[in-house]
Amino acid sequence: MTEFSRRRALISGGGLAALGALVATSPAQARSLVGWNWSPSRSVVGTGDGGDPHRVWDSEADPLLEALFDRGVIGKVNELLWNWERNDQSLPNGLPSDLREFMEHARRLPEWADHDKLDRAAEFNKSRGSCLNVCNGLGGGLLATAIPKEARAVYYSAGGADMEDRVAKTSLFGFAVGSLDAYRPEGTCVVECVKTRLVHAAVRHLLPQSPHWAGRAAEEIPISQEDMLVTWHTLPTFAMRTMREWEVPISDGDAEAYLHLWQVTAYLLGIADEYIPATWDAAYAQSDQILARNMGPTPEGVKLTDILLGQLAEQTSPASLSRPQCNAMARYLIGDRVADWDGIQREPLWDRVIPEAWTMLVKFREGLVPLPAVPEIAWTIDEAMRQYLLLHLTKGEETKIEIPTHNRPE
Ligand code: HEM
Repeated sequence: MTEFSRRRALISGGGLAALGALVATSPAQARSLVGWNWSPSRSVVGTGDGGDPHRVWDSEADPLLEALFDRGVIGKVNELLWNWERNDQSLPNGLPSDLREFMEHARRLPEWADHDKLDRAAEFNKSRGSCLNVCNGLGGGLLATAIPKEARAVYYSAGGADMEDRVAKTSLFGFAVGSLDAYRPEGTCVVECVKTRLVHAAVRHLLPQSPHWAGRAAEEIPISQEDMLVTWHTLPTFAMRTMREWEVPISDGDAEAYLHLWQVTAYLLGIADEYIPATWDAAYAQSDQILARNMGPTPEGVKLTDILLGQLAEQTSPASLSRPQCNAMARYLIGDRVADWDGIQREPLWDRVIPEAWTMLVKFREGLVPLPAVPEIAWTIDEAMRQYLLLHLTKGEETKIEIPTHNRPE
């Protein structure tokens, strides 16, 4: 074990330390102990008013969606946007002019976007695909269910009633970010991000009208800028920290490129420049400040986790994992504390076997151990994750990200 990983293992009390300071602070303590003190000088633009993102939403998209709902045109807008798929595609004729104006502006890459870095990130995604599949495809989903505000928002919104469809839609976004042409003209990342920004603004309009959500949530408006940042850190920041923990060699250039891909993505999702971290150090500091105060257990999160792991275990050939194996992989990935919040059952046999097996597979890929050292179960996990994501890609072909028109019915 390197000095770095030994130190991190000590900090975390044994499990993965990829969630950083989360393990050291309880959610209730955290907000009262630390206000927002992350400086905009650490952001991609190096400046800003430093306002607390807990009280900022999306000042451009939110009033627009409010107006579109008032005019009763969301159904028509969804129809028109159904075939808007490529980054370089013109917007369809017939869109309301205020929406068109917003989208023409929202689809533009930020001035600070760097195409060389985006190309390098695409290559990095390809070369580290297996680790990223596990970290973003499985880890990101399981962490989201341990964020109470997100778990409740997802559970009580329309998509919460049909998690198959929701995961398929989210996979469209995931594949777009991870693909080789993410931000090239023929790619789809700009489209999926702008559509998602509209979906989030619609959710801010709809959820406050749900008596179920309003009865459970402390906030009056969902999906603040802080909430967006929290979820963002469960994706690239968690993946980078986890891969470092696994001792995957990553050059500085690749790490910077991967961060850049996600900086541009954050921007297109409507996260303000002044909150987007400029460097990994700035990202880790921000993540440590806001994850702790935004994570914890909820009954909704436990139910959503059960559905997600059930979906992974339900898959059949060529690779299939039993539910106990899925539980153990999940626990290994997100650590004991979050796994307990998510209500993931302990598996005495697999909780011991899977971490060792997965570590061997990662080491084998780096040429550090010979093939016979890799237990069969590690290959099964790798293949099962690939199949799981492919399945959702296929399902994703039948669905598209659409603006919701209602909340969860019951
Ligand atoms: C929808 C991604 C943050 C709650 C979506 C969709 C994507 C997405 C791709 C469209 C899929 C669908 O409609 O089911 C992201 C990303 C985020 C983020 C990348 C941050 C980087 C959040 C946060 C919350 C949230 C912080 C809540 C606190 C929702 C809800 C929906 C949604 C409720 C709509 C579900 C529905 O009614 O169908 N998000 N999201 N998201 N997101 Fe997010």
